[in-house]
Amino acid sequence: MKQRERRPGQKKTSGPAGESRRDDRAGRPAKPVARPAAAREAVRETPAAAAIVSRPLSMRTGERPLERVPVILESLGAGDFHLIDSGDGQKLEQYGPYRIVRPEAQALWRPSLAPQIWEKVDAAFTGDTDEEGTGRWRFPKAALGETWPLNLLGVDFLGRFTSFRHVGVFPEQIVHWSWMKEQVEKAGRPLKVLNLFGYTGVASLVAAAAGAEVTHVDASKKAIGWARENQALGRMEKLPIRWICEDAMKFILREERRGSQYDIILTDPPKFGRGPNGEVWHLFEHLPLMLDVCREILSPRAAGLVLTAYSIRASFYSIHELMRETMRGAGGAVESGELVIREAGLDGKTPGRALSTSLFSRWVPK
Ligand SMILES: C[S@@+](CC[C@H](N)C(=O)[O-])C[C@H]1O[C@@H](n2cnc3c(N)ncnc32)[C@H](O)[C@@H]1O
Repeated sequence: MKQRERRPGQKKTSGPAGESRRDDRAGRPAKPVARPAAAREAVRETPAAAAIVSRPLSMRTGERPLERVPVILESLGAGDFHLIDSGDGQKLEQYGPYRIVRPEAQALWRPSLAPQIWEKVDAAFTGDTDEEGTGRWRFPKAALGETWPLNLLGVDFLGRFTSFRHVGVFPEQIVHWSWMKEQVEKAGRPLKVLNLFGYTGVASLVAAAAGAEVTHVDASKKAIGWARENQALGRMEKLPIRWICEDAMKFILREERRGSQYDIILTDPPKFGRGPNGEVWHLFEHLPLMLDVCREILSPRAAGLVLTAYSIRASFYSIHELMRETMRGAGGAVESGELVIREAGLDGKTPGRALSTSLFSRWVPK
């Protein structure tokens, strides 16, 4: 059971909606049925209804892929990031030159390091809210600018003190990014990577730097702007990345209609989010269709479909079994579990306790 901090694009909601949808697959048509054009136009009339442009779930047959569970993908940090210590509902992290304290509900234990170390930090998220309802940062040593340069897996990007306690990167994703980098590098051809809910683009830049052709989708214009800034910072403008500001579901449904295909799809959806035109994303309601469509746009030589989920009241088995049902008849294996970050101490090398961050499930062809 994982609870995690809210991430961008995600609003507080009272709880998951529409879980029953997963049960009513039986009896649905074997093939996706496109809505008539008139119906498609009709639902476009109101922005909030846009997410309804949809199709039924496919009826999947064949064997479920092999399973590997539980798989704990653990990171001791990489590049400019490591988790120094955690405890008392907080975490102490190193991001390049800065030591930062942020809330962490899962750190139920006591901190290992002395209080003086926790106090002498460069930035701390206070949790206060200002007039706009955004969180506040405190800079105990000296006032800091909004951004600062960081590097992970050889890619330059900007750390950023954002509202809702985020710093412009989710370092627990490094394990997925390293895996993806390896797939791209060993493919012997330019893999096509689709990064859904791509945020500030670090995964997209890692993939492109490794030789992939990348399509990056995010609903937030601001996040796309930051991603482009990151691309410029690393002088990676010439790399083939399409930056697309769109509702993720709408985008993949269109790609399916066009017959587009991708070799690797990363999807890291929030529990709740909104597309740029008010399209509603509810993980518990829309994830089955999202995976179903992702399967349809996986190329015959695909290297993987990677799903991460956070801040949801669910076991990794929920997304694991959904992934296996979705990938029926595709062969390969589904491996699922948790992404954890291990404390690495002040020196970044001394393993301590593991902090769970999210659930994941990934289909791989072998
Ligand atoms: C937590 S971030 C993903 C982080 C990213 N995987 C990474 O590690 O860098 C979630 C992102 O989903 C985006 N988002 C929310 N609702 C969306 C929607 N309906 N369609 C596309 N993107 C959406 C937000 O703008 C936000 O950037």
